[in-house]
Amino acid sequence: MLVLGLETSCDDTAAAVLQDGNKLLSNIINDQTSIHSKYGGIVPELAGRSHIDQLHKVIGQSLESAQVELREIDLIAVTVGPGLIGSLLVGVNAAKGISYGLGIPLIGVNHLEGHLLAIFLQKQIEFPFISLVVSGGHTDLYRVDDFGKYKILGRTRDDAAGESFDKVAKMLGHKYPGGPIIEKMSKEGSSNTHKFPRAYLEKGSLDFSFSGLKTSVKTYISKRQNMNTETLSDNDIAAGFQDAVVEVLSKKIIMACEKECLTRVVVTGGVAANGVLRKAVALACDRSGFKSWFPDPVFCTDNAAMIACAGYQKFMSFPESKADLLNLDATASLHLD
Ligand code: KG4
Ligand code: ZN
Repeated sequence: MLVLGLETSCDDTAAAVLQDGNKLLSNIINDQTSIHSKYGGIVPELAGRSHIDQLHKVIGQSLESAQVELREIDLIAVTVGPGLIGSLLVGVNAAKGISYGLGIPLIGVNHLEGHLLAIFLQKQIEFPFISLVVSGGHTDLYRVDDFGKYKILGRTRDDAAGESFDKVAKMLGHKYPGGPIIEKMSKEGSSNTHKFPRAYLEKGSLDFSFSGLKTSVKTYISKRQNMNTETLSDNDIAAGFQDAVVEVLSKKIIMACEKECLTRVVVTGGVAANGVLRKAVALACDRSGFKSWFPDPVFCTDNAAMIACAGYQKFMSFPESKADLLNLDATASLHLD
C-alpha cells in the first residue's frame, strides 16, 4: 500500500511516499527558514504563499525520488490541523484536488498524531506507553493505549518548550529557529554557575510552564551590563536555560510513568531533536528501569513521513475515517484526545 503524505501546517512544505506503513520511499522537505529568519519568527502570510509556490514541486520530487507515479498512490494523508490556517489550507486543498482528480482515497491527519506516531516509521513500539510531544507549538504528555487512543496527562500552560528556545535565542541576538542554535552554544558554555528557575507547578502536576524561565533569562540579560561580579557568557546562559528545560521535561516524564504505572516512553517533536534532552531522558528512564525511544532527528522536526505513517495507521485501524472530500477541512486549533 502506497501512501502520499502531505504536510504544510507551519513553515515546512513536505511530501513523502511510504510503503506499507514503515518503508519510506521518499521524504522531501522544503523548509522556509531563509524566508522567516530575519523576522525572528514565522510570518503566517509569507508561509502560506511559499507553500503555494513550493508544494507541487515538493510532491513532484517525492514521487520522482520514490520512483512512483501519482496514479499508483493508494491513499493521500494530509495534515488538517493544528497549525496556521493559511498554511494548512494549501495542503488540504491540494490533497482534495489530487484525490478528486484521480479517485484516490483521502484521510485527514492531526499534526500532533503525526509527531506522536513518527517512531513507528522506525520501530513498532508495544502499547501502552507515555509520549511527550515537544515542539514549537506544543508540550504535551500523553498516555497512548493504541492507535487512536490518546489521553492527555499534562500540557504547557503558557509557552511551548520549542517556543521558549526560539525566544531565548532571539534575546541573545540569534535568528529563528533558536533550538539548534541554543544546543550548539550550550556545548561551549557551563550550566553550573547559575541555576535558572524550574517550574514544577503544584505537587503531582504533569503540566508545564516555561514563561517564568524565559522572563528570568530576559531579566538576567538586561541586568548583566550593570553587574560588578563576573557574569555569564551567552553560551553559559544558553546552557543554563537548556538545562532547566531538559530537567523539567525529564522529571515529568518519569512522574507520568509512575502515575500511570507504565514503563515505555517515546519523546518526539522538534525539541526531541535536542541531543542533551535525548541523553537526559534516556538516562532518567534507565535509572528507573524504563525504556525510551526517540525518532531520528529528521523525523522529530516537521516532515510528511510522519503524516503518511499516522494516515496509514488510522486508515488500517479505522477504515471508515477515510475522508468525505467535501467535508475535509483545515482547523487551526485541534486537540488529540
Ligand atoms: O516539530 P517542529 O518542527 O514544528 C512544530 O510543530 O512546532 O518543532 C520546531 C521547534 C522549534 O521551536 C525549534 O526551535 C525546535 O523545535 N527545535 C529544537 C531543536 N531542533 C528544533 N529545540 C531544541 N533543540 C534542538 N536541537
Ligand atoms: Zn510539528
